[in-house]
Amino acid sequence: MYDILIIGTGPAGYVAAIRAAQLGMKVACIEKSSVGGTCLNIGCIPSKSLLDSSLKYHQLLNEYDEHGIEAKDVKFDLEKMMSRKERVVSQLTNGVEALLKSNKIELIEGSAKILSSESVEVATKDKIEVLTTKNIIISTGSRPSDLPDIKIGDHILDSEGALTLKNVPRNLVVIGAGVIGLELGSVWSRLGSKVTVIEAQHEFLPMLDPRISRQVLREFVSQGLDIRLGCEILDVKETDTGLNINFNDKDEARSLDVEKIILAVGRKPNTKDLFEEDLIPLNEKGFIEVDNYCQTPVKSIWAIGDVVRGPMLAHKASEEAIMVVERIHGLNTELNYDHVPNVIYTHPEIAWVGQSERELKELNVDFKSGSFPFLASGRALAAGETVGSVNITADTHTDRILGIQVFGPSASEILQQGLVAMDNDITSEKFSTTVFSHPTVSEALHEATLAMNNKAIHIQNRKKRS
Ligand code: NAI
Repeated sequence: MYDILIIGTGPAGYVAAIRAAQLGMKVACIEKSSVGGTCLNIGCIPSKSLLDSSLKYHQLLNEYDEHGIEAKDVKFDLEKMMSRKERVVSQLTNGVEALLKSNKIELIEGSAKILSSESVEVATKDKIEVLTTKNIIISTGSRPSDLPDIKIGDHILDSEGALTLKNVPRNLVVIGAGVIGLELGSVWSRLGSKVTVIEAQHEFLPMLDPRISRQVLREFVSQGLDIRLGCEILDVKETDTGLNINFNDKDEARSLDVEKIILAVGRKPNTKDLFEEDLIPLNEKGFIEVDNYCQTPVKSIWAIGDVVRGPMLAHKASEEAIMVVERIHGLNTELNYDHVPNVIYTHPEIAWVGQSERELKELNVDFKSGSFPFLASGRALAAGETVGSVNITADTHTDRILGIQVFGPSASEILQQGLVAMDNDITSEKFSTTVFSHPTVSEALHEATLAMNNKAIHIQNRKKRS
C-alpha cells in the first residue's frame, strides 16, 4: 500500500513526489510519456530555448550596430538551434529523473486509470496491475485546444509542432494573441517569417492595464508582428503551397495565403480515460472539481496543476503540489492564489501579479498607483532597453501593495522582488525604504513605488488621485 500514487510527472507531479519523499512517505509516480511533462518537454523549456536563441540572432542583426558593434554575414543554423534546444530539454529531464531516483521514488512507466478512492490500475509495457494507495494525486496536465474545422496537421500546428519546425516559413498566421501566440510568433518573426497574429477579442492582453497593453502592442507592431484584433475566422483551406485563411478583421473580409498556421487558442485539461464519470466530478469545461486545497469530493483523491481551476502555470502547479502533500502529511499549508505571478517571455518581457487597476475599480477599492518608465532608468538607457514601464498599486488605507505590472527589461525578475513584499504584507512605504543597487533596472520598481507616494526622485511627481 502506497501513501501516495501520483499520476503525471510534470512540474506538479514530480514536485509532489519529491516533497512526499522528503516527508518520509511511500510514493510512486506513474508516467505514460516523458518525465517532466509539457513544461520540460514541449512547453516552457524548449520555448525559452528558442526564444533566447532567436533573440540573440535578432539583436545581433538589428541592435548591436547602435552599440558600435559591426556584425557582417550574420546567419543562423536552425538545425543547430533545434539540437541545442533538445539538449537543454534532455539535460533537465535527466535531472528530474535523477532527482526521483536519489529521493528513492518509484517511477512506473505506464498508463494509469483510477478505479476507486484507493486503487489505481496501471498498464505498463508488459502487464496490467492494480496498485493500492492511501492517497492519489492527479497531475495529468493539459493539451492544446483546437477550433472546429481547424485541425492540427502538417501545415496547421499546435505549440508543440511550432517548436519543431524544420524550416522557417516565409509567412505564417498565429491564431490567438495570448501567451503562446505572442511567444511563438516572436520566435518565428525574429527568424524571418512574416507573422500575422489573429485575435478574436477586441482588446489586446485585457489582463493588463490599458497604459501597459498599449505600450506592448506598439512595441510588438514595431518588431514586425502584424496583430489584428476583433477578428473572426471564416475558414481555412489547403492550397498547393500551404494554406488559405479567410477571416473578418472587424467588419472587413480578409484573405491570406500562408505556409503555416499556429493555433494558440488555449489549452484543455487531460482527464480522458482517467476515471469513470461518476467517480470524480468535472466542471462544464472539463476541469476536475476541487476545493481551495485541491481536494476532490473523494477525500483521498487530489488534483493539481492544469487539470484544475486557476491559471495553467508550472509554478502554480508546483506550489499546489507542495500544499497537497503537506496537507496529506497533516500540515495546514495554504496557497495564496492572488499572488501567483504571470510572465510572457517576449522581449521585452511582460509580467504581472495581483489585481489590475480595472479590477480594483470594479471592486470599488480605494487605491493609489505609481508608474516609472524605463526611459528614465540609467541602467535601461545604458543597455538600450528603454521600452516599457513599471506600474504598482496599493490600498490607500492600509498601504498594502495590491498589484504590480511590468513591461520592460528583466520584467519577470523585477516583478518577483515586489511580490516578496506583497506576500509578506510589507507596506509600500516600508518597501520604498529598501536600498536598491544602482544602476539596476530594478530601480524602476523602487521609483514607481516612490512615485505612488509622491516621493519619486528621478521623475516629476504628480498629485495622484486616491
Ligand atoms: P491564452 O488563453 O493565453 O490565449 C489564447 C488566445 O486565443 C486568447 O487571447 C483568446 O481570445 C484567443 N482566441 C480563442 N479563440 C480564438 C479564435 N477562434 N480566433 C482568434 N483568437 C481566439 O492561451 P494560450 O496562449 O494558448 O496558452 C495556453 C495556456 O498555457 C495559458 O493558460 C498560458 O498561461 C499557459 N502558458 C504559459 C506560458 C508562460 O507562463 N509564459 C507559456 C505558454 C503557455
